[in-house]
Amino acid sequence: MEKKFKRYTVTAALPYANGPVHIGHLAGCYIPADIYVRYLRARGKDVKFICGSDEHGVAITIKAQKEGVTPQEVVDKYHKMMGDAFTDFGISFDIYSRTSGKTHHETASEFFKTVYDNGQFTEEVSEQYYDEAAKQFLADRYIIGTCPKCGNENAYGDQCEKCGTSLSPTELINPRSTLSGASPVLRTTKHWFLPLDKMEPSIREYVESHKEWKTNVFGQCMSWLNQGLHPRAMTRDLDWGVKVPLPGADGKVLYVWFDAPIGYISATKELTPDWEKYWKEEDTRLIHFIGKDNIVFHCIIFPAILRAHGGYIVADNVPANEFLNLEGDKISTSRNWAVWLHEYLKDFAGKQDVLRYVLCANAPETKDNDFTWKDFQARNNNELLAVFGNFINRVMVLSHKYFERKVPAIGTLTDMDREVIAELKKYPATIAASLEQFRFREALSELMNLARLGNKYLADTEPWKVIKTDEARVKTILNIGLQIAANLAVLSEPFLPFSSGKLYKMLNMPHLNWDEAGNEHLLAVGHTITEASLLFEKIEDEAIDIQLQRLEDTKKSNQLQQAVAGPVKEAVSFDEFSKMDIRVGTILAAEKVAKTKKLLKLTIDTGIDQRTVVSGIAEYYEPEKIVGQQVSILVNLAPREIKGIMSHGMILMAENTDGTLAFVSPLSPVNNGGSVK
Ligand code: MF3
Ligand code: ZN
Repeated sequence: MEKKFKRYTVTAALPYANGPVHIGHLAGCYIPADIYVRYLRARGKDVKFICGSDEHGVAITIKAQKEGVTPQEVVDKYHKMMGDAFTDFGISFDIYSRTSGKTHHETASEFFKTVYDNGQFTEEVSEQYYDEAAKQFLADRYIIGTCPKCGNENAYGDQCEKCGTSLSPTELINPRSTLSGASPVLRTTKHWFLPLDKMEPSIREYVESHKEWKTNVFGQCMSWLNQGLHPRAMTRDLDWGVKVPLPGADGKVLYVWFDAPIGYISATKELTPDWEKYWKEEDTRLIHFIGKDNIVFHCIIFPAILRAHGGYIVADNVPANEFLNLEGDKISTSRNWAVWLHEYLKDFAGKQDVLRYVLCANAPETKDNDFTWKDFQARNNNELLAVFGNFINRVMVLSHKYFERKVPAIGTLTDMDREVIAELKKYPATIAASLEQFRFREALSELMNLARLGNKYLADTEPWKVIKTDEARVKTILNIGLQIAANLAVLSEPFLPFSSGKLYKMLNMPHLNWDEAGNEHLLAVGHTITEASLLFEKIEDEAIDIQLQRLEDTKKSNQLQQAVAGPVKEAVSFDEFSKMDIRVGTILAAEKVAKTKKLLKLTIDTGIDQRTVVSGIAEYYEPEKIVGQQVSILVNLAPREIKGIMSHGMILMAENTDGTLAFVSPLSPVNNGGSVK
């Protein structure tokens, strides 16, 4: 397969510019893409690595509405943040562009116009919800109403998030616009459709000619095809996006899934005047790295668009990953359930490779996978540090100590030396074979096996003992050890670019290509290496506990936010309410009621008297800390005996949905005995 292609265009999904980058993005798409591209470059291939921000669509306008800013402000903010995060983590795009740019608007516009001129679109007039107050048509996500299936009153026009049913806006009961709150009306509107139903045979042929695609990708495509494709609107009634370049299309923009993938092409145009080679020549291999929710768009719709335009190549492979979860829960930007890259960097400065390693070792390649902080710690401490770091450190330190940083001469080889060298020679091809098949986990584990080989070699040959009797032998051992280290510098570069860079520096060697590795002659005898520095550090429990605590806090605050207030009780008259005599009082003393978990015995100055009240708040307040606190107390509640103590009244408490309680206290001091009404 390799021979057929002269160059590579590798794209990574354009992330929506509506939030920062998190580990799910990295694991699903950007890390595998980066490893692959770095590998290709190391093989000396002609490759362009393309990405940018996806700045159109409802994802953006909704975020803007939520934050009370313009869509442009939203995308400016996140485009910068995302670009920085990718740079920080060594994601080595040749260009990180954006779809709100001029080149993109022109390119997408031209694309649409050409497809239109080719007579490829069909026009359809349909009825859609329109908000008369906001004077605009409503995208599905802008309409909420009651779910016909489960009665959830806040179902979206495209889906009920409570029961998971997919809906169309007209199925909602009592639909209302999230823009104005008004009930929308149906109005007719015209849109341009890509007749995917008619294009199906050629798309099917395309997909079926790629049985080598990952099973999850191929399977999803076939399932779409087998369900039958339907015409899909390529325009939307929205004012944010690329304007539809046709007369009479005011207030309409290109469907975000029409314009976004064209963003790959616009970005390439910005990158090089030679861009056409990378998109139009059959000997270019086009590869899209994406997450699984993007499969249909890249394997069916985008190829259909490219062919409807004509003159473009289509993807040769689309190695999509499944999803990464976090501590057993779906990653979610809106629920803040994620590890954000910019926050990770604050807590683990300089440890980008650790995250890259863990996300690759645990990548959701064939099924959804879980990121846990314990696994993160274990992989750092037991693999990166104990295997890779330890080997490099030993070989460096021993070479300094015995041979003053000079690569020692190699002498007579033993059988063991020969075996190790023979093993070493296999690694570039073994790792490459896995990478060529997009098996990144396997490739990484092979890389670690090379470090293991080095470790085992030192453990078996024990140079620190042999030095006492046979210096020549130690020279040979350390020469071979250093050659393994040099091979690790070359072969680890796609996976761990920062550590590889450090290792190159320590070994003081020039940058080598992949195919130059795989032998024991990377470092010449007498070559001077430099100071050893630590590649990895132990990650302590405390650092992990901080992360776990943060997630715990997020979970709690989400639960509270999701809380739905209970229904209103039956109406009472003012007279009935006035029967309650509620006063402000001050806690004079508090103690736990023996043999109970929940009860405190309180002495309260009610302004009327000092009295004893038993209250079920021991789980929320420590007795010592509440003395002096003002509270509200129902003073005319009939006394009752609780655990053998007479309780005269009741302290008013506010209850969270999770059952936790808090005092209802005046915000500024009130006389004891002051009434609450
Ligand atoms: N923005 C989309 C997402 O985050 C991906 C767009 S990929 C592109 O799911 F091809 F359309 F650019
Ligand atoms: Zn529902």
